[in-house]
Amino acid sequence: MSPVPRPVTDLIEPIYMLEGAGVRLRRSMATRRLDYLDPFLLFDHFGSDDPEDYLAGFPMHPHRGIETVTYMLAGRVHHADSLGNSGDITAGDVQWMTSGRGIMHEEMPQSVNGKMEGFQLWVNLPARLKMTRPRYQEVLAARIPIIEREGGAHIRLIAGQVGETRGPVTEIAADPSYLDVTIASGGRFDHPIPHGHTVFAYVFEGQGSFAGQDISATHLVIFGDGDMLQVTAGSRGVRFLLVSGLPLGEPIARYGPFVMNTRQEIEQALQDLREGTFVQP
Ligand code: CO
Repeated sequence: MSPVPRPVTDLIEPIYMLEGAGVRLRRSMATRRLDYLDPFLLFDHFGSDDPEDYLAGFPMHPHRGIETVTYMLAGRVHHADSLGNSGDITAGDVQWMTSGRGIMHEEMPQSVNGKMEGFQLWVNLPARLKMTRPRYQEVLAARIPIIEREGGAHIRLIAGQVGETRGPVTEIAADPSYLDVTIASGGRFDHPIPHGHTVFAYVFEGQGSFAGQDISATHLVIFGDGDMLQVTAGSRGVRFLLVSGLPLGEPIARYGPFVMNTRQEIEQALQDLREGTFVQP
C-alpha cells in the first residue's frame, strides 16, 4: 500500500499576548481558539528587536505535571531552578525540562548582538509520570544532528528520527519528534510520521505548500491522520518546526503552570505551594 499523505485540517494564526512579568509573545496553542492538541498543551514563539518586549522575563514560577521544551534561535534564556540547576540556553540549544511533581524556576530572555528569538512547547505527561522526579535534558547546538536531504531540505533533528539518524532528546513518554526544517526555494520534503501520532508544523519563515495548501509565515498548521507529510518550498524558501507525538487520551485539568488529570490534583498542587511542600529534595 502506498503511504497516505496527511491533509491540513486546521490553520491557526498566533495571537500576541503578555506573559510572565511582561513578555510579549505570540501564542498559538493554549488559547481560546486552540486549547490543546493532545499530547501538546501550549506553544509560544517569543522574540523581538525591542528588549522592552522581553527583559522582564519569567521570574520564579512553578510547574507540575508537564514537560517544557525551550528551543532558541537567537539570544539566550538564563534559567535557574529550585533544584540548584542554572545556566544559559543559547542559540541552537534545546532544554527539555520534565517538571514531574514540581519545580520552581525562572527563565530570563536576553539579547545577543541585539537579537532574541525562541520557542517554548509544553508536552503533557501521562498520569503515571505526572509526579515523577524532575529531570533535564540540555542539548547544546553542537550535539544536534544536521541532515541535508535530497530535494533540498536542511533539518536540525532535536528529537525523533530522520532516515537512520536519531535526535539527542530521548526517553520522552509521548515519543515525540521535533524537527527544525529549512527548505530552499523549489525544494521539497517528504517525511514519514507514524499513523495515530498528532502532528503540527509551525511555519515561521517564508512560505510553502503543505499537503497541497499554500501557507506562509507565521502560522501553526494542524494535520489529519495518515502516514507521511509532503512540503514544497515557495519562491523564498520556507522554514518551520515539525512536531509530532502520541496522544495520551487522558482527562486534562489545567490551571496556569499546572496540568494534571483532575481538579482535585490541581487543588493539591496549590495546597503544596501554600504549605511549602511543592518542591521535594
Ligand atoms: Co517555566
